Amino acid sequence: MEKPKYYITTPIYYPSAKFHVGHCYCTVVADTIARYKRLRGYDVFFMTGTDEHGQKIERKAKEANITPKEYVNDIVSDTKKLWEDLGITYDKYIRTTDKEHVECVQKIFEKLYNSGDIYKSEYEGLYCTPCESFWTETQLVDGKCPDCGREVELVKEESYFFRLSKYQDRLIKYFEENPEFLEPISRKNELINNFFKKGIEDLCVSRTGVKWAIEVPFDKKHTVYVWIDALSNYISGLGYLSENDLNMNKYWPADLHLVGKEIFRFHAMIWPALLMALNLPLPKKIYGHGWLVVDGNKISKSFGNYKDPRIYINATSRDALRYFLLHEITLGQDGNFSEELFLEKSNSDLSNDLGNLVSRVTAMVLKYNNGIVCKGNKKEEYDDELIALAKNTVIEVEKLMDDLKINDAITQIWKLIDKSNKYIDLSMPWILGKQGDKDRLNVVLYNLVECIRIIGILLRPYMVDVPDEIFRQIGVDLDITNWDDAKEFGLLKEGTKVIKGDNLFPRIDIKEEIKKMNENLDKKDDEEENEDTKGIITIDQLDKVELKVGQIKEVSKIEKSDKLYKLSVDVGEENLRTIVSGLVPFYKEEELLNKQVVVVTNLKPAKLRGVESNGMLLAAGDNDVVKLLTLDNNEGFLENGSNIH
Ligand code: MSP
Repeated sequence: MEKPKYYITTPIYYPSAKFHVGHCYCTVVADTIARYKRLRGYDVFFMTGTDEHGQKIERKAKEANITPKEYVNDIVSDTKKLWEDLGITYDKYIRTTDKEHVECVQKIFEKLYNSGDIYKSEYEGLYCTPCESFWTETQLVDGKCPDCGREVELVKEESYFFRLSKYQDRLIKYFEENPEFLEPISRKNELINNFFKKGIEDLCVSRTGVKWAIEVPFDKKHTVYVWIDALSNYISGLGYLSENDLNMNKYWPADLHLVGKEIFRFHAMIWPALLMALNLPLPKKIYGHGWLVVDGNKISKSFGNYKDPRIYINATSRDALRYFLLHEITLGQDGNFSEELFLEKSNSDLSNDLGNLVSRVTAMVLKYNNGIVCKGNKKEEYDDELIALAKNTVIEVEKLMDDLKINDAITQIWKLIDKSNKYIDLSMPWILGKQGDKDRLNVVLYNLVECIRIIGILLRPYMVDVPDEIFRQIGVDLDITNWDDAKEFGLLKEGTKVIKGDNLFPRIDIKEEIKKMNENLDKKDDEEENEDTKGIITIDQLDKVELKVGQIKEVSKIEKSDKLYKLSVDVGEENLRTIVSGLVPFYKEEELLNKQVVVVTNLKPAKLRGVESNGMLLAAGDNDVVKLLTLDNNEGFLENGSNIH
């Protein structure tokens, strides 16, 4: 029989130099649902990716003196590595710079233009550059961008528009007839009250000033502006309007678009309207989840409270981080993230409850039965309670997972873990061992190992490594670790041999770990992101920039890059500094050799094309002409490493 299909997506992320733990949230949730559906026998297609166009990327790349594509390439490889570190099992990673995506967006644009759903007009609006969003006067909060609170500017230009207003009534009708389409309900109501009741306007879908974007195919002066480009990924990634549209036929419509609450509106309003205009069926559900917050503020680079998720993975494990994100945050609501809470939960729920259960039980089977699990006959009434709960947990978990109540599903599993721990206290295997009551002891130990097998299966959607480690420690045959094997109690064979392993989650010295984390935490505000203070710095901030005289001693081109040189620069230190600089189009190698230049020496190292750059050379100019700031003059050379004030 053909497997049922399940297509799930995360938003495509802006490639920002640092992904914080908030970014990981949606991806971990989507991965958990994808894993769960696969275990339930679905043919899953899970897609994530990056949203790589726009002014911001263009600007950042320019500042780094590389092309936007080079800039995003480095970030994308780092992002993929992060997803690997978190055990994210995506089936496709889409990039909006992929040829197939670009072509698809152009075809969509043209199709909508030909059908009259896109038309040319003039746009005058209030624009927030960092958010790349136009706002109406009424949407502004205190005259500023409602999303980020920054200043907006009045922009007037010739633009293409999508007839969003035409779809208003159809959308409302669709929302009414399909109550499960938008979730949670609170967000749907908010959207209807705040936007639909005021009347939705047509949407500006092209720009003339943004070069790093997809060209409007029939009018090269314009580029496609943000949302048509970004949202189309959900179908371009399936091959829509391409020769290879097998996946489109197989997986569309999507079962679930999981998105953060600030972009729920675009997904609930623009995306279904675009699909209606394209005569495509609508996704089955759009779910707007909440944010991870620290002291009430969304974790984000703009607030300067971002943290590198790898710090947490290194302190504990990826499964501990996944557990925290999935269990401590209720899907749909905001959830507080703090290092202390995270480590406390790791100690209490993971190390004490789960870890101790497995190590106590395996230790007892080893001690009393040489590691061999046997079946006994001497049953007690309270055994049935444990067995009933073990059999029922999977049913509860399924119900909750099907309703996207992920944290409640995990709570159910923990009820079984608690019950198993209590069963140990109640049955007191150490007394049975002392009394030599083998028949009862065998029943007790069998029930416990069998519960652990079921727990291991139930944890498979949420954790990556721990289920397999559980199965290894209890020596279970892997053919009884499939999802449906959690529905039967008693599959564990007599004679199964357990082994002693380490605690699945070693206990953590919280104070010590927090100290270490803070030493590692990169608390440096990303000034580019922090547009609140754009253009103005304090004298203290200026003082932080360390400028030194440096002399270029070696020059070589970086493979596969037509822009980058790898330079070895003498800045008065014991060793030469490696600095990567995009000077190839402007200087020949021999022109650079021995030049004295101005070097920023305390810049955080960055990897460019796999080469770590430790500093930056100051230069003037734009993309066409770049001149290094040099210190050569008639009075001779300054000493390398001299400070520049
Ligand atoms: N590129 C757009 C999405 C286009 S989808 C067609 C975008 N990118 S983003 O990188 O800014 O955000 C990606 C996702 O990360 C969003 O769903 C956003 O809500 C989520 N998060 C960013 N910070 C977050 C938290 N602090 N907590 C939870 N999720 C957060 O928007």
